[in-house]
Parts: sequence; structure tokens; C-alpha cells
Amino acid sequence: RVAYVNGRYQPHAVAAVHIEDRGMQFSDGIYEVVAVVDGHPIDLSGHIARLDRSLTEMRIARPMPSRSLRLVMRELVRRNRLSNGIVYIQVNRGVYRRDHPFPPAHVAPSLVMTVRSGVGPSRTAIENGVPVITMPDRRWARRDIKSVSLLPNVLAKEAAHEAGAWEAWQVDRDGYITEGASTNAWIVSRDGALVTRPLNDDILAGITRQSLLALARADGMTVEERPFTVEEAKAAREAFTSSTTLSALPVVRIDDAVVANGVPGSLTRRLRELYAAHIA
Ligand code: PDD
Repeated sequence: RVAYVNGRYQPHAVAAVHIEDRGMQFSDGIYEVVAVVDGHPIDLSGHIARLDRSLTEMRIARPMPSRSLRLVMRELVRRNRLSNGIVYIQVNRGVYRRDHPFPPAHVAPSLVMTVRSGVGPSRTAIENGVPVITMPDRRWARRDIKSVSLLPNVLAKEAAHEAGAWEAWQVDRDGYITEGASTNAWIVSRDGALVTRPLNDDILAGITRQSLLALARADGMTVEERPFTVEEAKAAREAFTSSTTLSALPVVRIDDAVVANGVPGSLTRRLRELYAAHIA
């Protein structure tokens, strides 16, 4: 396996950034995960646009123009002969002696890219659906930025795993679900509408979320971008959770509540089909 680090393609096993990298010191960096299907990156423009936005919001310099970023990504996919998997991109503020304020402007950001093959949910998870738990959302207030500061997400995901669940849906102070630790949360309401939380600082603008919304609207589904409570989700007709590597993954249990009759819903299955056609 080959990784890309600051201008060089290196064997994955020895690829590294410096110990004084601000990604190490302060988790001062941002990232993207792009799915690769049959050798082609999915929704690449959306991911590059979000990467740009994260960099702008964090005031980290662009490591290279978008065009070059695309070229490096393609080259990395080629060198790894990656057919199906992901490209992981991380940009840190750079290497400098540890000090909280930004380093001087001449310090260049670090750019790391790696690939992994064969990620994604199992057949069983897709066919049977998965359980999720809910817990208070203890993350920072700028969840729209795809920051590598993911400690609360790590703790939430571990709690889910220990509970035998797939994901930990995060709940705001008013009892509304924001999103999962690494996915966007969705339900189909009692009256059949597809519901997901609207975009603002509370959640990450999922690229898969955006694609699924467009596909649903084009297919004539009723779509409501509004917050929903844990209670509404538990009583919903269907539920699912979305990300680049999952598409729409059916959720069949929320805490101790079985969603509808406990099997993946028809609208969720339809969305999976539409998404599969979209990325084919
Ligand atoms: N996670 N919400 C959060 C908090 C996320 O971390 C992610 C992505 C999403 C879904 O976004 P997208 O559809 O663009 O993948 C929503 C990535 C995959 C990760 O951390 O591995």
C-alpha cells in the first residue's frame, strides 16, 4: 500500500507526519472520506467543496489547488490499484513548536492521503438493519466543520459498540436528534415523509445526505428538513443512517424500541436502490 504525505508517495507502513505537527498537538486539522467504486471517486466535487469550506472556516491554508488534489487522489487510487474502498484526506495546520495561536504564515499545512479497500457495512447489516443507541450530544458547537477533533465521537461510537449497537445518535438539549457519531440520521414519519435535520452548525452537511435528498425529491417522495425527537424516531415508520461508506443503512432498533416491525423499510430500500444507481 502507498500513502501520500506532503508531496511524496511513500510505503504506507512508514508514512508519517512529524511529532510537532499541529494535528498531533491540538488535533488542529480537517479531513474528508471519499468512497471509491470501481476505481472512481463518488461525489468528488461535493467532498472537495466541503474540504475547502472546512479549511476556510478553520483558516488553514489550502495545501494545493483543487485540481491538483484531484490528480493526487487519482494517482493514489491508481498506485494502490484501488477498486472499491475509500480515500482518506487530512489537512493539518502544519509543523511548528507547540504554541496555541496559529504558527507564522510561512508554515505550510500538512497533507496526508491514504486509501483502504473493502470498507462498508456487511450484507447482514444491510439486509437486517442495525440497532442504534441515543445519547446526549456532547460535541462542540461547530459540527458543520469536518474537524479531526473527534474525541466525543470516538467515545460515543465505543459506547454504541459496547451496547451491541452500530451507531450513537446524538441528542440535543431539547430532545431532538442531531446526527450520528459519523453518520446523518433520518426517519420516515408516521405520515410517510422523509425527515432529516436541516443544515446549520449542529450537524455535518453529509455529502450522502445531499445526494439522498436530491434523489428522494426527484423520485417524488415528500421530504421534510426539520428536527425530530427521540420519541418521534422510536415511533417512526422507518429509520436509517447515512454516510459515504454506508449509503442509507436501515435502522431497526433505537435504544430498546423496535422501529415499526423491526425490518428495513420500503422507502429506505428504495433510496438504497436510487443511490446505487446514482453511483454506478
Ligand atoms: N463521517 N455526520 C458526521 C458527524 C460524520 O462524521 C459523517 C461522515 C457524516 C456523513 O457525511 P458523508 O455523507 O459526507 O460521509 C455525518 C465519515 C465517513 C467518517 O468520519 O469516517
